[in-house]
Amino acid sequence: MCGIIGYIGKRQASPILLDGLRRLEYRGYDSAGMALSNGHGLEVIRRAGRIENLRKAVAEINPRGEVGISHTRWATHGAPTDANAHPHKDESGKLAVVHNGVIENYQQLRDWLKGEGHTFSSETDTEVLAHLIGFEYDGSTETDPIQRLVGAVQTALPRVKGTYGIAVIHEDAPSVIVGARLGSPLVVGLGEGEHYLASDVSAIVTHTKDVVYLNDYDVVTISRTGYDVQHVEGGAARVTVSRVDFTEDEAEKGDFPHFMLKEIYEQPNSIRNAIRGRLSKDEGTAILGGLQMTQQELRQVDRIILSACGTACHAGMVGEYLIESLARIPTEVEIASEFRYRNVPTTKDTLQIVISQSGETIDTLAALREAKRKGLKCLGIVNNVASTIARETDGGIYIHAGPEIGVAATKSFTSQVAVMTLLGLLFGRIHHLSSTDGLELIDELEAIPDKISQILAQADHIKQIAEKYAHVEGMLFMGRLNNYPVALEGALKMKEISYIYASGHPSAELKHGVIALVKPELPSVFIAPHDAVFEKNISNIEEVKARKGPVIAVATEGHPNIEKVADDVIYIPRCPSSLSPLLTVIPLQLLSYYVAVARGCDVDKPRNLAKSVTVE
Ligand code: AGP
Repeated sequence: MCGIIGYIGKRQASPILLDGLRRLEYRGYDSAGMALSNGHGLEVIRRAGRIENLRKAVAEINPRGEVGISHTRWATHGAPTDANAHPHKDESGKLAVVHNGVIENYQQLRDWLKGEGHTFSSETDTEVLAHLIGFEYDGSTETDPIQRLVGAVQTALPRVKGTYGIAVIHEDAPSVIVGARLGSPLVVGLGEGEHYLASDVSAIVTHTKDVVYLNDYDVVTISRTGYDVQHVEGGAARVTVSRVDFTEDEAEKGDFPHFMLKEIYEQPNSIRNAIRGRLSKDEGTAILGGLQMTQQELRQVDRIILSACGTACHAGMVGEYLIESLARIPTEVEIASEFRYRNVPTTKDTLQIVISQSGETIDTLAALREAKRKGLKCLGIVNNVASTIARETDGGIYIHAGPEIGVAATKSFTSQVAVMTLLGLLFGRIHHLSSTDGLELIDELEAIPDKISQILAQADHIKQIAEKYAHVEGMLFMGRLNNYPVALEGALKMKEISYIYASGHPSAELKHGVIALVKPELPSVFIAPHDAVFEKNISNIEEVKARKGPVIAVATEGHPNIEKVADDVIYIPRCPSSLSPLLTVIPLQLLSYYVAVARGCDVDKPRNLAKSVTVE
């Protein structure tokens, strides 16, 4: 998704903006630009392609100015070209806007503005927004330029249908930047004699840890000395100052070549962080303080709907097995983009849980709002503290995974599964689970981080397997029961960072059509831990081998028979079958990583993808 950073203060803005854009690169983009206000007009520099192209242009031009806004664009309307890159100016050329989101009625607004004599130089919806605000600014009778600019934003935005996170500057009001949000995140960074505006706190965490997360319909004015937040329709808005809970180092790669590899290796600690302080060994249960639900309300829950997208949805599918097996509560997973349009029957005791690493995924947010519209109690399993989803749910559980910068989700998946294990334990102990069973699960969960470390120690072995198959054009991922979602997750990882076509299936589905694909050039990855369906998986592997399909198996150590049927085997330590997805996913994360590296792919910023999908 698009990234935004604005700066107003006592330092030259361009280096700060470029550094902030670099920290937002992981979100995915295809062009970048900045606009600086130096008291004598606006200087706008835009370049298609990587931020390096913009950096070179800025070095050549060396624009001056202590006030600026900048943007990385993930194209929604119009190709990734210099002309379509943000910032966009209004008819007068004195106002500039950067925007994250989609203006759904931009064509109608564009036609109306053309009728008012406006001309456009791009194909974007954002340029229409710039002209609309400029139209209101030029038509205002307000004499104070700052109030005139704020008023123009507040008058223009109600005419917009869609989503926006914007930053606006005007050369007549060089002492302020105006921002506003609806559906796309925006945060204010608080400094000494300087302030920031950003779409993601990681862009400004090096400068300040004191931030204000804006809410929908907020309009903020930042200056060197302060900030003011109003509602888009006027009147003061609620403001909460938050403290960023991660360090600059955590938002950096450190000694790792890619954020994705760093985050794969962080999983022993991220899982420890997800469960820390949430286990009661005395009662053999979980302690989840953020649910905001009484024991009675928890006991009344008779059905759970888990809604999410992508990897978070796969984690939810594992959670379905966990909650049903531990608590015997009917649980179903609804892909968020489907749930929001389906009319799923619910009752007053149905609990909705949305899962989202970023807490900003627009489809998941829409599913949450649809559930709330139906009067359901809604919880969130979220990583990004104070994100929109975290703020709009009735309660929830932060996974405390730290910033996940790589576009491919890794540690967020295992932490989401760990948290849903806690949820299943909590519900189970309210209903039928004994304290001894609960305590046994707690002991096994606490042992998982060290077992992940044992798998990570096999990285070289997994790298060799990856390089052996890096040339293939397709890959099948097969698993049963709670490892079927892991097959889906392994396939998603492989396709999104190595661009190999990959698909995940329940192993038994092979004979219902999938096996027609099997051939020597098409490897199948079987997730076959030593569980109740292990022998069934072995049979499926033999079906593939009989048709000369190569097989990579993820299996449990101590059961070497699988080496008689699989071409390559990656062993995981023993663990209860209910927790095996926490281990079986690790080899698949590393496999996709090393295949992508071998294929020369951009692992942290895969083509066409964004870290947080805040547009529909
Ligand atoms: C997974 O690797 C992808 N990055 C993507 O599927 C992601 O999981 C999905 O967009 C949901 O994101 P969220 O968890 O931030 O809501």
